[in-house]
Amino acid sequence: MKLKITDFANGGYGTGSINGKIVFVENALPNEVVEIEIVQEKKGFIRAFATDILKPSVYRVKPKCPYYLTCGGCDLQHACYDYQLKLKQSVFVSTLKRIGKIELNKMPKIVPSERQWHYRRRLNFKCKNGKWGFYKRSTNQFTQIDECKIADKGINKFINNNRCFRNMRVQVDDYGNVNIDEMVMDLGFEQPLFYKKSAFTQVNRDVNLKIIQDLLSEVHSINPASILELFCGIGNFTIPLAKNGYKIYAVELDLSAISSLKRNINNFGLKNVNVVKRNLFESFKIKDGCDLVILDPPREGAKEVAQWLLKRNIKHVIYISCDVVTLSRDLNIINSKYTIEKVKLYDMFPQTHHVESMVVLKLNKD
Ligand SMILES: C[S@@+](CC[C@H](N)C(=O)[O-])C[C@H]1O[C@@H](n2cnc3c(N)ncnc32)[C@H](O)[C@@H]1O
Repeated sequence: MKLKITDFANGGYGTGSINGKIVFVENALPNEVVEIEIVQEKKGFIRAFATDILKPSVYRVKPKCPYYLTCGGCDLQHACYDYQLKLKQSVFVSTLKRIGKIELNKMPKIVPSERQWHYRRRLNFKCKNGKWGFYKRSTNQFTQIDECKIADKGINKFINNNRCFRNMRVQVDDYGNVNIDEMVMDLGFEQPLFYKKSAFTQVNRDVNLKIIQDLLSEVHSINPASILELFCGIGNFTIPLAKNGYKIYAVELDLSAISSLKRNINNFGLKNVNVVKRNLFESFKIKDGCDLVILDPPREGAKEVAQWLLKRNIKHVIYISCDVVTLSRDLNIINSKYTIEKVKLYDMFPQTHHVESMVVLKLNKD
């Protein structure tokens, strides 16, 4: 069936419509005419795959990877890089409007990734008969791979030199170590941060450094007396902020991240950080006498934190997010009390539809 693609939606889908029903099409870009194969039909929408591109977009490029769209990872390799950035900006704005009911008065800037390939320092592999691979999107159909074009080259070397024996995460650190128990992250300080290999770290080193730089500059302009940092992990933001003299109350659930953070605080000789363990997905009690909350939740977002913020009068909030849907949901909750002062996007995940963002909010006067 032939379909005209009129728009682009979160998830990396070109969209069109059949008899008034929206169709989400994988492997399709706005303004293309494509031949589609329907993958799933639901009451409110259709999911399809573009099997043939009858009229290609001027922004279409040949995907680099032989496993593209069969491995379940990348979903934007068929668009040139500048256009990927444009698509991410417009999807961010439209999702914020649709779910968050928030209209931005200008398009947010997006910081590109220096590396468009081989930027990922962590990947979760599937393993079948000793072979490394991934599952095709929304299935458990195994695709064996020899190389991942977005993985750090150290990860590719590791999977080529080792047989897998179970599904596992492979990660490389800033010194080139792969999957050792204690890994290091170099933030440009006199010594690195340490973390256990199970703990969360941002996947794209260069973009992470840019986020830290921007976060520091936002915090300097707020100049808070104390900061409540939620979902702090191993201290990726905590350590740079604390080294700049800010008093921080850092909150995290994962015990291995907490122990790495405590070790990092100790190594840097910092006396201005308190660390507490809390589950921020349940109702929680924490000290709230601060004038800035920084939160960087996982994809699930931070609904409970948003509801908690509504009941307080904390002057400033900086929300860092890797998922525009949950971000929009949470901003919709706190929007009645806060004004968005700044939004910036970061292309942490080139070749995929995902985008990282930083939203700076200020408590309304009344
Ligand atoms: C996106 S990461 C951010 C970590 C850190 N800010 C960084 O830049 O590396 C989210 C963090 O939230 C933590 N986390 C996940 N679920 C949580 C929960 N329910 N309560 C508190 N922390 C949680 C994870 O362990 C992870 O460290």
